[in-house]
This record gives sequence, C-alpha cells and structure tokens, in this order.
Amino acid sequence: MYKSLFRPVLFKMKPERAQEVSKFFLKRRSLWRPVSSFMHVKEEEMLRTNFAGIPLKNPVGLAAGFDKYCEMIGTMMELGFGYAVSGSIVYGARDDNPKPMYVRYPEKESLVNCTGIPSKGIDYALKGLMQYTNRKTPIIANVQDFDIDGYLNGFKAVQPLVDAVEIGLICPNEKYEGCNPIEEETFDQILTQLKPKKSKPILVKIRNYHNEKERENRFELIRMCMKHDVDGITLPGSMSVKEPKLSLGAGNLTGRAIFHNTLRNIHDVWDQTNGKVPIKALGGIFRGKDAFEAIKAGATTVESVTGMIYEGWSYAKQINSELVNLLKENKFSSLDELRGYANPQVAAA
Ligand SMILES: Cc1cc2nc3c(=O)[nH]c(=O)nc-3n(C[C@H](O)[C@H](O)[C@H](O)COP(=O)(O)O)c2cc1C
Repeated sequence: MYKSLFRPVLFKMKPERAQEVSKFFLKRRSLWRPVSSFMHVKEEEMLRTNFAGIPLKNPVGLAAGFDKYCEMIGTMMELGFGYAVSGSIVYGARDDNPKPMYVRYPEKESLVNCTGIPSKGIDYALKGLMQYTNRKTPIIANVQDFDIDGYLNGFKAVQPLVDAVEIGLICPNEKYEGCNPIEEETFDQILTQLKPKKSKPILVKIRNYHNEKERENRFELIRMCMKHDVDGITLPGSMSVKEPKLSLGAGNLTGRAIFHNTLRNIHDVWDQTNGKVPIKALGGIFRGKDAFEAIKAGATTVESVTGMIYEGWSYAKQINSELVNLLKENKFSSLDELRGYANPQVAAA
C-alpha cells in the first residue's frame, strides 16, 4: 500500500515537506500499535541473532539519520525492526543546513542528502531516549561530534539509556569542501578515553572510502578498533558526490546505487579482521536478497535509511520474511550458519 498509494503522493512533494508529513505520523506510536502484530514474521526463531553481545529478534535495523532527534523510536518498535539506531546525537544544539538538503533519484531508488548533523541539543535527545527504559527492542545511540570532548560528553550522557553506543565517524558535510578523514591519533585518543567509562558495547561507524588514501585511513581505523576491543563496526557504502541542486552543491549518495560498495566493504573488513569483529552493514539494502548477500559476505545485521523512504513501513517485515524464505531455499538453518559463507575459508570448513 505504501508504494502504490502513499509514496507517489509523498514523492510529489518537495523532500523536506514529505519528511515533515511522514514525521507527523511516525512520531505518533499509538497509530501504529494496531498493525504491530502484522509486522512480525512467524518463523522468528530462524532470524534470531546476536550483535556484539546484544540479543536481537531479527537482523534488520533502522539506521542513524532517520530519527536524528530520537522522536520516532516507539513507532520503530511497532514496525518489526530488530533494533533502532537513534541520532546522530550531537552534544550541542546546531542548526539545520540550508535547503534544499535532498534530491531524489527515483529511477535508481537512491537519493543525495546534505542534511549534515543538526541537533536540538543533548537534553532533547535524552528526553526522547528516557521514554524507553522498559523496552523489548534494543536501541543503539549514534554519537557524532566535532572534537574529543563532544564525543566524550555525548557518550557519557546517552550510555545509561541505551543498549550500545555507536561512535560516528561519518562526514558531517556541513560545508562541502570535501571531507577529511578523521586523524588516526584523534580516534586513538577518543577510544582510549572512552574505554574506562564503558559499560555497554561500543560500536564504530566508519565511512566509505573513495580513494586509496581514504582506504588506508579506514584500514588504520579498523586496526585501532581491534586494538581497543571495539565490539562492532558499522559499514555504510554511501558516497560523497557533487549535486548542483543541493544547497551545498554536494552530499551523500545513498540507496540502491551504492549497494556494490556495501558488499565490497563487508568483504574487505571481514578479510582484515578474519571475521572476528561483528559487522553492521548498510547502503542500498532494500530487500531480502540484498540482506542475504550482505550476511553471506560477513555482516551480522543490515540497516537502512533510504530503504525506509522507498519501501515504507513494511521495510523490516518484508526483508525478514524474504530472508526466511531464502534461508530455507538455500538450506541454511540459521543466520549464524549463513554469516560469512561467501568467504572461501568459511565455505570450506
Ligand atoms: C537523509 C539521511 C540522513 C542521514 N543522517 C545520518 C546521520 O545523522 N548520521 C549517520 O551516521 N548517518 C546518517 N545517514 C547515513 C545512513 O545512516 C546510512 O549510512 C546511509 O544512508 C546508507 O544506507 P542506505 O542506503 O540504506 O540509506 C543519513 C542518510 C540519509 C539518507
């Protein structure tokens, strides 16, 4: 119904307007409670998994960026997600980037955005998170900032209220002048200072690379994650691209057009870590077969923002039911059995 009825109406509006309208409904959890039981698949047992020590009823998550201000978490719990990532949460309040911040590419089921990381301040985010102290669906808070103190303060504030904290190292693209990779020493300092304060799993979201220099930087960042016993790595396939229709002239390309990066990233990181660090994968994962490929390459979970925009409220349900069918057809009894199967050493074992 979303794709045939609601999406055409929303896509006739400017993306910012469509976002406001969608948020109006998605902020109201009570509207979604009646459909909650239809959003779960029967064979839930096959889909159970564990990410970085967090038990999940299924491997499909909502990614950071859909609910930047922690206002829609309750509804996501009704829509069959295995977990929800809120944020990016930035400690201090920050304005939105100028509009237009989005351009859709419907023929490619993709979009470019330059939303950056606006913030209503940490207290607003905490107020949202505080409503779910008694929850069945895990919440991961994505914390992103501009300096070490920002990261530390954000981390300390949100950790007690969530199941894991994801440290975001994505490009905030507030002014598009390219985006420098985070310095390895800075990242080392962040992890060194977080470690003694840690009481929940720490995840790190490492941005995609576009050239050899960025690839090497990612290699080093992952090496540091391993040195500091980070519990999981989030790997987006998003690409920085020029787009003259955006206010900043450029932004991040997401959706189907980047799925190939997503698979490549999973394989790369699986190889680098010998499959020892759990991976959350994202970038153009829209359907069960995409999730199946990503898990087969080595991901433990999959998540999306653009998938929700194109596929709508049944995003998680659709992937989960297609995954169950694919597991059965391909004679895998569980997600654990499928994970990393595309890698030669696993297939041979
Ligand atoms: C509109 C929009 C806003 C986003 N904002 C954030 C953000 O605040 N923090 C973040 O870590 N990622 C953000 N992302 C990136 C997504 O989390 C994800 O990495 C990316 O969209 C690729 O996945 P997808 O193709 O499934 O959407 C945003 C993506 C979109 C489309």
